[in-house]
Amino acid sequence: MERIRLGVNIDHVATIRNARGGDHPDPARAAKLAEAAGADGITIHLREDRRHIRDADLSAVRKAVDLPINLEMAATDEMLGIALDYQPHAACIVPEKREERTTEGGLDVARLHNQVAPFVTRLRDAKIRVSLFIEPSKVQVAVAEALGAPVVELHTGRFVELVNAGDTEGAKRELENIQEAAADGHERGLEIHAGHGLTYETVRPVARIAAVRELNIGHFIMGEALFDGLETAVKRMRREIDDARGEA
Ligand code: PXP
Repeated sequence: MERIRLGVNIDHVATIRNARGGDHPDPARAAKLAEAAGADGITIHLREDRRHIRDADLSAVRKAVDLPINLEMAATDEMLGIALDYQPHAACIVPEKREERTTEGGLDVARLHNQVAPFVTRLRDAKIRVSLFIEPSKVQVAVAEALGAPVVELHTGRFVELVNAGDTEGAKRELENIQEAAADGHERGLEIHAGHGLTYETVRPVARIAAVRELNIGHFIMGEALFDGLETAVKRMRREIDDARGEA
């Protein structure tokens, strides 16, 4: 099976920085460390309210690393303008509500088809690899394909929540949804990514899914980095992914 790329999301280094309003800790420094520890890409989410990553971080992160940058963005004219200007390797379109604590649920591309379509086209025309962050459902995968997105990122948040709540049956069913959506998307010729909420434990069953090519992980890695250091946390996540993949 092909190796899975690990995109390290550094948003929450900026969350800690912003809690005090200064320059420390620096997300660009975290990006550099993640690169040295074996990350395959850096993921950043510039939110409408700039609660973590800010505009100035975009160029600072680009200067700090040679890795491909995946910009998570809402489907708004402001973010489209920034993405076209910034030219990241990839852009992942995510839903965004000001009041949510994190991205709750995937982008409902079935409902928002007409709203999302021009964003996919404009980003593709600019040679930016577009991915759509969707719930693991065949309907959403089919619409993503119809929209012309080359990549879907399957939302693993619900699976992780069910595992954490001790709901073994529910977690099993949700993992099956992810497996089926991944296989279906792969058959349709889409590249399959996954992410949200993943931990050392929950990453393993997701990494065993043959079609998955990339995982984007942030909050848990940064939490573990507080105890063990960022390098150790990235390397451990890398090892969990590779070990699980080897067992599949
Ligand atoms: N993928 C997408 C599309 C996301 O929006 C996020 C959160 O920004 C992640 C992955 C990473 O989630 P977490 O920080 O919970 O690992």
